[in-house]
Amino acid sequence: MRNVILDCDPGHDDAVSIIIAASKKSDLNILGITTVAGNVEVEKNTQNALKVSELLKLEVPVVQGAERPLVKQSEIAPEIHGDTGMDGPELPEPTMRVKEGHAVDFIIDQVKRSKEKVTLVPTGPLTNIAMALIKALEIKENIDEIVLMGGGTFGNWTPAAEFNIYVDAEAAKVVFESGIPIAMFGLDVTHQVIATPDIVERVGKIDNEIAQFVKELLIFFGQAYKDHFGFNGGPIHDACTTMYLMKPELFEMQHLNVSIEIKGEFSYGMTAVDKLNVTGLQANTHFAWSVDQDEFWNVFEAVLESYGEV
Ligand code: BDR
Ligand code: CA
Repeated sequence: MRNVILDCDPGHDDAVSIIIAASKKSDLNILGITTVAGNVEVEKNTQNALKVSELLKLEVPVVQGAERPLVKQSEIAPEIHGDTGMDGPELPEPTMRVKEGHAVDFIIDQVKRSKEKVTLVPTGPLTNIAMALIKALEIKENIDEIVLMGGGTFGNWTPAAEFNIYVDAEAAKVVFESGIPIAMFGLDVTHQVIATPDIVERVGKIDNEIAQFVKELLIFFGQAYKDHFGFNGGPIHDACTTMYLMKPELFEMQHLNVSIEIKGEFSYGMTAVDKLNVTGLQANTHFAWSVDQDEFWNVFEAVLESYGEV
């Protein structure tokens, strides 16, 4: 079992990522869910994390983290995720409560006390992870890998930058320069897992509460992507992280250097992906170029079906 902390801003696709991680099909030991300002304000992201945990009967600590990026002011994306950050499905107010304390201290504490190395799985801006590394750099010895969604060779928030990296590029720079092994799922690969109407139909045919929740998520998310980008469905970006932890063989990876741009007028937040090793800089990232799409959706379906098994 691999120890993981899911650091997120749920978020439709963050929720799907949690659902994969918490399923019987994965062998992840979730130490906790930490939240960060991203898609919407951190308090709303935390509420959504609690709602998803309660739906899944997932009894792990949910700990709130950074309210804003390290340097800049927050930017949020209600046009993609709605005002609540997880518009679409109706879930009851959670009875589960957020764990006291700050996500940064929780991450530090969990990594320090874990006998086995811990894998961090950030699917929002990298503020909490950077703060943990700034506050207690020694934890890096006990971090196995950072498996993150962010960046790519093109952008979705600016022409050059993807949302998670753009929102806190300074934090991303700290993380990518930390020396900790990184597996990066950027837009190049996440745009290969678009939940098109036929995928939504497949999900809708699965007769259990979790699959029906995912269907509702995908309907809202797909409409937002259609309105905003003209896509035929929503890419479930963040789900690539936990799918990779479950089935790494589905992804084609390349070990290369990624540097984070924090100065450029048009390129702030860009992840400079050195595909041809033109810089000669040391490789710091396992970069995902592609995924076996058919298998991805087959496994996804099996994950959702597993929630109906007793
Ligand atoms: C990323 O931004 C958020 O809107 C999604 O949850 C995902 O983490 C995609 O750019
Ligand atoms: Ca996210």
